[in-house]
Amino acid sequence: MNKSTIPTAQKAALSLLLDDHRNVKKLFKQFKEASSDREKADIAQTVCKELTIHTMLEEEVFYPLVRREGGQPFSDMLDEAVVEHASAKDLIAQIQSMKPGDDMYDAKVTVLCEYINHHVKEEEEEMFPKIVAKKIDLREAAEMMSARKEELMGMAPA
Ligand SMILES: [Fe+2]
Repeated sequence: MNKSTIPTAQKAALSLLLDDHRNVKKLFKQFKEASSDREKADIAQTVCKELTIHTMLEEEVFYPLVRREGGQPFSDMLDEAVVEHASAKDLIAQIQSMKPGDDMYDAKVTVLCEYINHHVKEEEEEMFPKIVAKKIDLREAAEMMSARKEELMGMAPA
């Protein structure tokens, strides 16, 4: 999805989520290229924190609003997103309790990356275009999400 083509009512909110998606994809790429355990640990910690915040913004603000305003056509998609988030959160908790070099550490980060690729594809190719087509007004959600993001980013790493 191209940010420049998003209408004003959805632009700020969807741009924030698209930026998050781009950012974590970049971090996963850096993880793959990292050469030391120290580097891997730093990147994985950042990925886990950013994904936790992204998930919270979507679950606290974005999904409830889309569910309310979008109605039935969105409910299955949102239910699936919540289930997928639960699997990602479980994997994030496991990664946070491990260190590079542990059995299955890289495999867990790789699988998390695959979950997120799937999440990004579904949102950007299905959910976001439907939201734009239905003209759901996301301006208030955008403000709530940026304020919440700032607050969560300021907290100590999990
Ligand atoms: Fe997302």
